[in-house]
Amino acid sequence: MDIQFNLSTIKEAVQSLWNAGKDTKVWVFHGEMGAGKTTVIHALCEQLGVKQAISSPTFAIINEYNSPIAGAIYHMDWYRMRDEEEAIQAGIEDCLLSGNYCFVEWPEKAENILPEKVFNVYLKATDHENRLLTVNA
Ligand SMILES: Nc1ncnc2c1ncn2[C@@H]1O[C@H](COP(=O)(O)OP(=O)(O)OP(=O)(O)O)[C@@H](O)[C@H]1O
Ligand SMILES: [Mg+2]
Repeated sequence: MDIQFNLSTIKEAVQSLWNAGKDTKVWVFHGEMGAGKTTVIHALCEQLGVKQAISSPTFAIINEYNSPIAGAIYHMDWYRMRDEEEAIQAGIEDCLLSGNYCFVEWPEKAENILPEKVFNVYLKATDHENRLLTVNA
């Protein structure tokens, strides 16, 4: 599935994304720096009714939100992680195995701790404001 969107149509885009991926708990977001991974995850969390302030997990590695629709959500950014060992130290494996939704940016950093079944989301900037979202559904 391909979805073209910009910031004025992101709500509809994340709703379609949710419908496509909701049966899988661990979602991995692929895309270059600035592709829009955090922006999409924030819009998705808002769509899922998260009331907490949604911040960038860059410095925390793991942010936990609560959604009336999805339950606990772990938003993780693995960019600063060196490898699997560091990920395990940070408690990331526990999140992945918790059965809660996990939205992961930069999954490439610790690929080997990901479960077999993940929902892959690919994001690409097509120009300044438009993005192409592709999923393996
Ligand atoms: N259609 C769009 N979707 C998402 N972001 C957009 C869009 N149009 C413009 N932007 C802008 O592009 C930037 C995307 O930044 P964002 O932090 O979401 O990227 P990222 O993929 O998480 O980067 P990083 O790898 O550094 O974490 C934001 O400044 C956002 O406002
Ligand atoms: Mg980000």
